[in-house]
Amino acid sequence: MRFVVTAGPTREHLDPVRFLSNPSTGKMGFAVARAAARAGHAVTLIAGPVALRTPQRRPHRGRPTIAGDIRRVDVVSAREMLAAVEAALVAAKDDPQGVALVMTAAVADWRPATCAMTKLKKHAMSGVLKLVRNPDVLKTIRGKVRAWKRKPVLVGFAAETGEPTAEAARKCREKGLAMVVANDVTQPGAGFGVDTNRVTFVLADGIVEPLPLMTKDAVARRIVKKCQTFGGGGGI
Ligand code: CTP
Repeated sequence: MRFVVTAGPTREHLDPVRFLSNPSTGKMGFAVARAAARAGHAVTLIAGPVALRTPQRRPHRGRPTIAGDIRRVDVVSAREMLAAVEAALVAAKDDPQGVALVMTAAVADWRPATCAMTKLKKHAMSGVLKLVRNPDVLKTIRGKVRAWKRKPVLVGFAAETGEPTAEAARKCREKGLAMVVANDVTQPGAGFGVDTNRVTFVLADGIVEPLPLMTKDAVARRIVKKCQTFGGGGGI
C-alpha cells in the first residue's frame, strides 16, 4: 500500500514573525510513517514545522530496518497541508494495493484574516485579531475522492480534553472516515510531546477498541495493521 501521513502542527502567520499554532511535536505521525515503512509500504510524510528527522534506512545487524521509502514534504499552513495531501493522493491514486491517508496532524482550524508582509509594529495593532476558517483537510479530501473508483482509506485523530470516544464517533461520521484514533490528551502518558499514548480506535461501524498505554511506535504499528485490514479501496 501507499501511506500518506500528516504530522505535527500547522502555523498560521499574521506577519513574518508571529503565528497561531499548537503544541503538536509530530511524534505520533513520524511513528506511523516509520511503522508503515518498516512494514514495507511506500510513505509520503507531510510534516508541519517540527524538529524531527525523517526516519531513515538504517542497517540493523546488516539488514535495513526500514523497508519502504519515506518521501517527506514540509509545509507550514493548513492550506499548504491540504494542497500537499491532495497532490500525494492524486499521485498514489492508481496504486494497485490501495492508499491510506492517516491524518495525525493538529491542523489549525482558524487563521488570521490577513498576513502582513513585514513585521507588525505593536502601536499599529488594535489588540483585536480577525480570524477566518481554514479548510478541513479530511472533509475536503473526502469530497474530492468521492468519484474515484478506488477510494483511499481515511483515518483521523481526535485529541480531546475529556471523554474522547463520543467526539471521535461524531468526527468519524461527519468526516466520512474508516476510523478515528481518539485520545484524552490530559491523561498521564498521552498527548503532546510524550513517547507514549493511550488511544481508542473508533471504527465507522460503531465498534470501539480501547488500547492500553503503549509507546507511540506500538500504537503506530497497530494503526498500520488496521489500515491493512481496511485494505485498498476500503474508504467510505
Ligand atoms: N483535521 C483536518 N482539517 C482541519 C482540522 C482537523 O483534516 N482543519 C483533521 C485532524 O488532522 C484530525 C481530525 O481532523 O485527524 C480531527 O481533528 P480535531 O482537531 O480533533 O477536530 P476538528 O474537526 O477540528 O473538531 P473540533 O474543533 O470540534 O474538535
